[in-house]
Amino acid sequence: MIRVEQLSKHFGSIKAVDGISFEVGDREKLILLGTSGCGKTTTLKMINRLIEPTSGNVFIDGKNIFDQSPEILRRGIGYVLQNNGLFPHYTVGENIAIVPQLLKWDGKRIEKRVAELMEKLHLSKDQLKAYPNELSGGEQQRVGLARALVADPPVLLMDEPFGALDNVTRSKIHAEFKALDELKRKTIIMVTHDVQEAFELGDRICLMDKGKIVQIGTPADLLFKPVNHFVQSFLKEQRLQLEFKAVRIKDIWGLLPHAKKTGDTGLNADITVWSGLENFKSQQADHLNITHENETRSVGFEQLITAFYKYQNGRAHE
Ligand SMILES: Nc1ncnc2c1ncn2[C@@H]1O[C@H](COP(=O)(O)OP(=O)(O)OP(=O)(O)O)[C@@H](O)[C@H]1O
Ligand SMILES: [Mg+2]
Repeated sequence: MIRVEQLSKHFGSIKAVDGISFEVGDREKLILLGTSGCGKTTTLKMINRLIEPTSGNVFIDGKNIFDQSPEILRRGIGYVLQNNGLFPHYTVGENIAIVPQLLKWDGKRIEKRVAELMEKLHLSKDQLKAYPNELSGGEQQRVGLARALVADPPVLLMDEPFGALDNVTRSKIHAEFKALDELKRKTIIMVTHDVQEAFELGDRICLMDKGKIVQIGTPADLLFKPVNHFVQSFLKEQRLQLEFKAVRIKDIWGLLPHAKKTGDTGLNADITVWSGLENFKSQQADHLNITHENETRSVGFEQLITAFYKYQNGRAHE
């Protein structure tokens, strides 16, 4: 869906982005991860031509973006700015309706689509006429997201969309983010410097440093097959929690005991080990029913942890 080739941006002697190449598949969620100043925002802004590159090419859906006018290009790309970027003197409704107004949708259609998104993003109707400074940080982020989604673009670029939130609000929004049907259909490039967020939301992660890509791969690739010491140390502090998030229960299915099958279906084995562990807590259960390919097993907390450690040991010796 998106192909970036040897893309560079130099500001004088600063190589903000230095010859990066990557691809993002249709409906894939790619996370640009890295410390402050490594070139994440610059990369994102070159993809919607808010910044013109020094050299390199970008193709979206096979078309070179430099063969189109930036205005036409941006119609197919939703953009969520760092710190939401809402217009303070526009109401919530007006902020969300900016793109449809530009596209000259009729009033009824705009009203309907805005109402639909407000509902999907759990904003109340009363907030339609509110100004951004009358909303909480989390609500403002949702409005920013609604604004980016309103014309249903196939591609979404998100720059630290959850950056301003506390951890509790953040994990609540992460859960909503993953559940939202409109987002499942989109090809997304999202910037963050939060490793946990990258592991929770990304299909693949592109770890950057000093304008270059250090490693691009699935969360499990980065954890279990780091290309160098930089990758290893970047993930070191939170390693265990990240591993729980990078491994899915289906990955360790063969290591789980063949406990008696139960009649009911249970949780889908597609969930991560981390989310399995959370389910023990939220259901206050000592066993969970988990289903994989038409087989349901009753799995205990210890059994899940043991299988996970066996798997981890195996990966370490690959
Ligand atoms: N307009 C500009 N003029 C000069 N230098 C710039 C400009 N924009 C960015 N830079 C430099 O390019 C580098 C990359 O900036 P960029 O904003 O892409 O980083 P980032 O990874 O998004 O960082 P952060 O996590 O802090 O948002 C930085 O060193 C920055 O100072
Ligand atoms: Mg940035």
